[in-house]
Order: sequence, then structure tokens, then C-alpha cells
Amino acid sequence: MIGEHSLVSTLRDLRARAEREVASAGDLAALEEWRIRYLGTKGAVRVASKGLGSLEPAERPLAGMAVNETMQALEAAFQQKLAELRQAAVASDLAAEAVDVTLPGRRPLVGIAHPLFRTLQDITRIFGSMGFSVAEGPQVEWDRYNFELLNIPADHPSRDTMDTFYVDVPGGILLRTHTSPVQARVMLSQRPPVRVIVPGRVFRRDQEDASHLSAFWQVEGLAVDTNVTFSDLKGVLANFAQQILGCKVRFRPHHFQFTEPSAEFDFSCLVCGGRGCRTCKYEGWLEISGAGMVHPQVLRFMDYDPAVYSGFAFGMGPERITMMRYGINDIRLLSANDPRFLRQFA
Ligand code: PHE
Repeated sequence: MIGEHSLVSTLRDLRARAEREVASAGDLAALEEWRIRYLGTKGAVRVASKGLGSLEPAERPLAGMAVNETMQALEAAFQQKLAELRQAAVASDLAAEAVDVTLPGRRPLVGIAHPLFRTLQDITRIFGSMGFSVAEGPQVEWDRYNFELLNIPADHPSRDTMDTFYVDVPGGILLRTHTSPVQARVMLSQRPPVRVIVPGRVFRRDQEDASHLSAFWQVEGLAVDTNVTFSDLKGVLANFAQQILGCKVRFRPHHFQFTEPSAEFDFSCLVCGGRGCRTCKYEGWLEISGAGMVHPQVLRFMDYDPAVYSGFAFGMGPERITMMRYGINDIRLLSANDPRFLRQFA
């Protein structure tokens, strides 16, 4: 009787201790270590069950049952803890990989066409519809094209208004002060009829302010053929003004060395519709640029006979047009490339 009781009570103590310990197994490794200690082939339950052999035959069934019960109880405790630990592991993996779907997304940076570029595209399209193709020339130009061939000799005072950056080499190299040298380049390379526009950058030694840049854009226009008149010039620019801004155009007498007669042209102010406001300084009109009939002397330089051919030319500032279109009050914004400004045009 003593034997049976002592084996049963050994098993009871053993089970109580094992159940206490399994509860504190923090991870799978600790649990496995626990399993080997109690349920392994050399584990505590097996070792205790060796005592069965030395019991009286009559005591064995009860003691054997106690061994089985202990085995099963600890096996069940093991399985339960195993399930718990696995679930905890999955939960912590999920927590580590969690995606917060309520976080605001990161907006991708999408580029947009610069407002000046849009204006240039529209200018090109509108003149394209009137039969003008696009010509280009170098920004670093010979004195000959920028001045001489445009009837501006070296000592001519009109050079003063077009001061620029010069390279002191024979023949004279400079940053072009207007797109007009491309007139000469085009006429020297082809015979009439000529119908081109020339978008491009030009450079002057000007102090920058709200309406001036030292590097800015011009769009030149040139048409040479038989019977081209000032009316054609007016018609083309009036049509352009109507299409680009829906406004009117007016001409004022002016002087350029390479056109005769010459004019400056204005667009009616978009802001006030021509009635007068601060933008147009109460004039009702905004200056766009110069124009005129190609000077006979220029035609002769190109070996075009002025008795046969005539032409008109104009130059305009696409920055000014862009400012009018979008209500921009400082031209420097167009060259600064500041995303805070440009974002507004997205
Ligand atoms: N090139 C002149 C300027 O920059 C503008 C112009 C172009 C005038 C064509 C007449 C004809 O001021």
C-alpha cells in the first residue's frame, strides 16, 4: 500500500510542478525543453513509472492508471501550450508586418508643362495654322547676323539699347540680343516664299525687375514673297491676338533699322478689356513688341530683289503673353523654376 500511495503521490506532485512550469514557458524552445524533461523517453514520468514494477500486483492497476492519466494530462497541457505559443508567434509576425491602411498615401510627383512652354506651343500651333513653319538659330551668334545684316552698323546708336555679352574675337561673337538674326540666316539659306516663326532665347544686359529678365524669349516672325503688304502683317497679328488671348491689336509708329515702315504693336488689356486698369497702367493696351516691313536694304543683303519681293517681320515676347494669360504679375516667376509657383498650373 505504501508503494502505491507513494507512486501516486509522486505523480501528483510531479504533475502539479509540470503544470506550473508549462504555464511559464515563454517560447517554443522553452516548451520543447519542458517536454523532454517530463514527457521524453528519459523524462520524469517515465522515470517515475519504473516504480510500477516493484509494486504489489494488486496495486498496479490503480498506479498504472495514475501513470496514464499523468501522461495524458501533461501531453494535453503540452499541446495546448504549443497552440498558444504558435498563435502568439503568428500574431506578433502580423503585428510586425502590419500596414496602416488609414495612412494618407504619398502623392507621386508628376511633371507638368511649364506655362511659358504652353504659350510657345500655342503660338507655334496658331502660326502653323497660318502657314508658318518653325526655324531656329544659335544663341551664341556672330555680330554680322545679330547686327550688320540687319542694317545696324558697328557705330549705330541703336546698338546701345541692345547691350549684351561679347566675345572679343575677329568678326565678333555675342549672345544674340533678339531672334532677328535668324531672319538673315533663313533668307540666306532659301529663296522666297519665306514664312517662318523663330522661338528662341535672347540675352541683354538689363537689370532684372518685375517686367525684365536678362535672358528671355522672343518669337520672331518673317514672311517674304511677292506682293506682301503691311495689311498682311496687320491681318496675321490681329488673327494671332484673337486666337491666343481673344484680344485686339493696335500699331504705333516706331523705328527699327531692319524694317521700314516700323511699328510697335500692343494687345488690348485682358484684365480690363481695354477700359484701363492698373495692369495696363490705365492705357487699355499692353506692349507686345515690334514689327514692320522688311527693309529694302536687308532684302538686298540677302540677294532678294526689293523690286520683286517684299516682306513683313515681327518679334514678340512670349513671357508677356504668358503673364497676360495667367495673370502673372512678375516675369521673374517664369524663369525661377520654383515648384511652389509651377504647381498652380498642374
Ligand atoms: N528684334 C526687335 C527687338 O528685339 C523686334 C522686331 C522684330 C522688330 C522684327 C521688327 C521686326 O526689339
